[in-house]
Amino acid sequence: MNEIDFVEEALDFSKTLELDLAKKIHAFDDISSTNMKAKELAKKGAEQGTIVLSKIQTKGRGRFDRNWKSPEDGLYFSIILRPNCKPEKATIFPLLAALSICETVKSICDLDVKIKWPNDVLINGRKVSGILLETESKKDLIDHVIIGIGINLNIDLDMLSKEFNATSISYEIGIKLNYFDFFKKVLFQLDKFYKIFSEGKYDIVLSEWKQNSDTIGKNVKIKSSNEEMLGKAINIDENGFLIIKTESGENKKITSGDCFYII
Ligand code: BTN
Repeated sequence: MNEIDFVEEALDFSKTLELDLAKKIHAFDDISSTNMKAKELAKKGAEQGTIVLSKIQTKGRGRFDRNWKSPEDGLYFSIILRPNCKPEKATIFPLLAALSICETVKSICDLDVKIKWPNDVLINGRKVSGILLETESKKDLIDHVIIGIGINLNIDLDMLSKEFNATSISYEIGIKLNYFDFFKKVLFQLDKFYKIFSEGKYDIVLSEWKQNSDTIGKNVKIKSSNEEMLGKAINIDENGFLIIKTESGENKKITSGDCFYII
């Protein structure tokens, strides 16, 4: 794929989609961050289903202000949604997105594909994708959410961050996948689960997430900016927060943080 082809191909690809979740694709050869661009568009009133896609990102952003390495052969996009739900339900979106990626990968291979709370998709225990949710609410209503998704699709391992136990789908499967075919499959899954979410059937999304969970039942350490907590992951609640049982037998709700397994 040369640079001009990517944007043209993305445009042609967008015409083949008939999804509420993918109404318009803004494609770039490179961009600082698809989330930043999506935010700009959302503030100008971009409709639900507007997607920003880029072949590479020069300042890809991860959770907790981290950097997200975004070399060529990865899939980087952000979707603008305008859900009609209470702001507290927005925390389900990262789980919904991870579930969509997990189902897509499962549909193309027989490997061990699971989700680490809240939204890391793992193949054989190693991370292949990350999700960054940004929500803008007005009073008690969501104005828009931006779901930023980065997938290590066909990336060589030496291009990835060592510290995140990262891998790529192509490395785990042993073959390179067609970029737009894979993207289409992910969009279909996202559209499917977003429809279920929009009908208020949050429990279906959460129970499907649980069926694919790598975390429930494991001993975990949760690190947030100001504390660390140890316990056994026993469930997620109605907003996708993790419930852990601490050593003292108390149940604690974890709203955010990095999750590590204790073996
Ligand atoms: C994580 O830390 O695991 C989340 C990484 C999210 C990366 C994606 S790539 C597309 C979108 N644009 C960004 O700048 N970040 C997200």
